[in-house]
Amino acid sequence: MKLTPNTAEIVRIAQAVTTAGADALCLINTVRGMAINIKTRQPVLGNSYGGLSGPAIKPVALYMVYQVFKAVNIPIIGCGGITNADDAIEFFMAGATAIEVGTASFMNPRAPMDILEGIEKYLLENKIDDLRELIGAAHR
Ligand SMILES: Cc1cc2nc3c(=O)[nH]c(=O)nc-3n(C[C@H](O)[C@H](O)[C@H](O)COP(=O)(O)O)c2cc1C
Repeated sequence: MKLTPNTAEIVRIAQAVTTAGADALCLINTVRGMAINIKTRQPVLGNSYGGLSGPAIKPVALYMVYQVFKAVNIPIIGCGGITNADDAIEFFMAGATAIEVGTASFMNPRAPMDILEGIEKYLLENKIDDLRELIGAAHR
Protein backbone atom coordinates (compact mmCIF):
# COMPACT_ATOMS: atom_id res chain seq x y z
CA MET A 1 0.00 0.00 0.00
CA LYS A 2 1.34 3.39 -0.99
CA LEU A 3 0.51 5.89 1.75
CA THR A 4 -0.14 9.61 1.50
CA PRO A 5 1.67 11.89 3.94
CA ASN A 6 -1.27 14.29 3.85
CA THR A 7 -2.60 13.16 7.21
CA ALA A 8 -1.84 13.65 10.88
CA GLU A 9 -2.58 9.94 11.44
CA ILE A 10 0.13 8.16 9.45
CA VAL A 11 0.77 5.57 12.16
CA ARG A 12 -2.91 4.70 12.62
CA ILE A 13 -3.39 4.45 8.83
CA ALA A 14 -0.32 2.22 8.49
CA GLN A 15 -1.61 -0.02 11.28
CA ALA A 16 -5.09 -0.17 9.70
CA VAL A 17 -3.86 -1.23 6.26
CA THR A 18 -1.47 -3.74 7.84
CA THR A 19 -4.34 -5.27 9.82
CA ALA A 20 -6.39 -5.32 6.60
CA GLY A 21 -3.74 -7.52 4.97
CA ALA A 22 -1.18 -5.29 3.27
CA ASP A 23 2.02 -7.16 2.40
CA ALA A 24 4.21 -4.04 2.47
CA LEU A 25 3.96 -0.28 2.76
CA CYS A 26 5.44 2.38 0.52
CA LEU A 27 5.77 5.81 2.06
CA ILE A 28 5.50 8.55 1.22
CA ASN A 29 3.53 9.84 -1.75
CA THR A 30 3.73 13.55 -2.59
CA VAL A 31 2.99 16.32 -0.09
CA ARG A 32 0.15 18.64 -1.14
CA GLY A 33 1.31 22.12 -2.04
CA MET A 34 0.67 25.07 -4.31
CA ALA A 35 2.19 28.13 -5.97
CA ILE A 36 0.52 31.43 -6.92
CA ASN A 37 1.48 33.58 -9.91
CA ILE A 38 1.73 37.10 -8.46
CA LYS A 39 1.04 38.72 -11.85
CA THR A 40 -2.17 36.84 -12.63
CA ARG A 41 -2.98 36.36 -8.89
CA GLN A 42 -4.00 32.83 -9.78
CA PRO A 43 -2.72 29.40 -8.77
CA VAL A 44 0.09 28.21 -11.05
CA LEU A 45 -1.21 24.64 -11.24
CA GLY A 46 -4.40 23.91 -13.16
CA ASN A 47 -5.89 22.08 -10.20
CA SER A 48 -4.90 24.93 -7.81
CA TYR A 49 -2.72 22.53 -5.82
CA GLY A 50 -0.47 19.60 -6.61
CA GLY A 51 2.01 17.09 -5.24
CA LEU A 52 5.36 18.31 -3.96
CA SER A 53 8.21 15.83 -4.37
CA GLY A 54 12.01 15.78 -4.27
CA PRO A 55 14.56 16.88 -1.64
CA ALA A 56 12.15 19.30 0.09
CA ILE A 57 10.03 16.42 1.38
CA LYS A 58 12.85 14.12 2.53
CA PRO A 59 12.71 15.05 6.24
CA VAL A 60 8.93 14.53 6.26
CA ALA A 61 9.27 11.15 4.56
CA LEU A 62 12.13 10.03 6.78
CA TYR A 63 10.21 10.84 9.96
CA MET A 64 7.13 8.99 8.70
CA VAL A 65 9.18 5.89 7.87
CA TYR A 66 10.78 6.17 11.33
CA GLN A 67 7.41 6.38 13.08
CA VAL A 68 5.71 3.66 11.06
CA PHE A 69 8.64 1.23 11.44
CA LYS A 70 7.99 1.19 15.18
CA ALA A 71 4.30 0.47 14.68
CA VAL A 72 4.08 -2.30 12.04
CA ASN A 73 5.93 -5.52 11.24
CA ILE A 74 5.68 -5.57 7.44
CA PRO A 75 8.38 -4.23 5.07
CA ILE A 76 8.49 -0.50 4.29
CA ILE A 77 9.64 0.94 0.96
CA GLY A 78 11.06 4.38 1.76
CA CYS A 79 10.40 7.15 -0.72
CA GLY A 80 10.53 10.93 -0.81
CA GLY A 81 13.45 13.07 -1.94
CA ILE A 82 16.03 10.30 -2.16
CA THR A 83 18.72 11.82 -4.38
CA ASN A 84 21.97 10.17 -3.32
CA ALA A 85 23.30 7.16 -1.44
CA ASP A 86 23.44 9.02 1.88
CA ASP A 87 19.71 9.74 1.60
CA ALA A 88 19.01 6.09 0.87
CA ILE A 89 21.09 4.93 3.84
CA GLU A 90 19.19 7.31 6.12
CA PHE A 91 15.94 5.67 5.00
CA PHE A 92 17.32 2.18 5.73
CA MET A 93 18.36 3.37 9.19
CA ALA A 94 14.88 4.82 9.77
CA GLY A 95 13.42 1.40 8.97
CA ALA A 96 13.01 1.02 5.21
CA THR A 97 13.71 -2.39 3.68
CA ALA A 98 13.90 -0.95 0.17
CA ILE A 99 13.79 2.50 -1.41
CA GLU A 100 12.19 4.24 -4.39
CA VAL A 101 13.89 6.95 -6.43
CA GLY A 102 11.35 9.20 -8.14
CA THR A 103 12.09 12.87 -8.78
CA ALA A 104 15.88 12.44 -8.72
CA SER A 105 15.50 10.23 -11.82
CA PHE A 106 14.03 13.17 -13.75
CA MET A 107 17.11 15.29 -12.97
CA ASN A 108 19.57 12.44 -13.54
CA PRO A 109 18.32 9.26 -15.25
CA ARG A 110 21.35 7.45 -13.82
CA ALA A 111 20.42 8.40 -10.24
CA PRO A 112 19.24 4.90 -9.23
CA MET A 113 22.51 3.34 -10.48
CA ASP A 114 24.59 6.07 -8.82
CA ILE A 115 22.71 5.49 -5.56
CA LEU A 116 23.25 1.72 -5.80
CA GLU A 117 26.97 2.22 -6.36
CA GLY A 118 27.12 4.67 -3.43
CA ILE A 119 25.40 2.19 -1.12
CA GLU A 120 27.89 -0.53 -2.12
CA LYS A 121 30.78 1.87 -1.44
CA TYR A 122 29.36 2.76 2.00
CA LEU A 123 28.97 -0.93 2.88
CA LEU A 124 32.54 -1.71 1.80
CA GLU A 125 34.05 1.30 3.58
CA ASN A 126 32.21 0.48 6.79
CA LYS A 127 32.86 -3.29 6.54
CA ILE A 128 29.15 -4.11 6.52
CA ASP A 129 28.48 -7.55 4.98
CA ASP A 130 24.71 -7.33 4.86
CA LEU A 131 22.60 -4.24 4.18
CA ARG A 132 19.93 -5.66 6.49
CA GLU A 133 22.21 -4.70 9.38
CA LEU A 134 21.27 -1.07 8.71
CA ILE A 135 17.49 -1.52 8.64
CA GLY A 136 16.07 0.27 11.66
CA ALA A 137 19.57 1.01 13.01
CA ALA A 138 18.45 4.49 14.10
CA HIS A 139 16.09 2.83 16.58
CA ARG A 140 18.72 0.89 18.48
C1 LIG B 1 5.42 13.22 -11.98
C2 LIG B 1 5.09 12.31 -10.83
C3 LIG B 1 4.13 11.33 -10.99
C4 LIG B 1 3.79 10.48 -9.94
N1 LIG B 1 2.85 9.50 -10.12
C5 LIG B 1 2.54 8.67 -9.11
C6 LIG B 1 1.58 7.64 -9.30
O1 LIG B 1 0.99 7.48 -10.36
N2 LIG B 1 1.31 6.81 -8.25
C7 LIG B 1 1.93 6.95 -7.04
O2 LIG B 1 1.65 6.18 -6.11
N3 LIG B 1 2.84 7.92 -6.84
C8 LIG B 1 3.17 8.76 -7.84
N4 LIG B 1 4.09 9.76 -7.65
C9 LIG B 1 4.71 9.89 -6.32
C10 LIG B 1 6.10 9.23 -6.31
O3 LIG B 1 6.00 7.84 -6.56
C11 LIG B 1 6.78 9.43 -4.95
O4 LIG B 1 6.00 8.84 -3.93
C12 LIG B 1 6.96 10.90 -4.61
O5 LIG B 1 7.25 11.67 -5.77
C13 LIG B 1 8.08 11.11 -3.59
O6 LIG B 1 9.30 10.56 -4.04
P1 LIG B 1 10.41 11.41 -4.85
O7 LIG B 1 10.70 12.64 -4.03
O8 LIG B 1 11.56 10.46 -4.96
O9 LIG B 1 9.81 11.75 -6.18
C14 LIG B 1 4.44 10.62 -8.69
C15 LIG B 1 5.41 11.62 -8.54
C16 LIG B 1 5.73 12.47 -9.58
C17 LIG B 1 6.76 13.55 -9.35
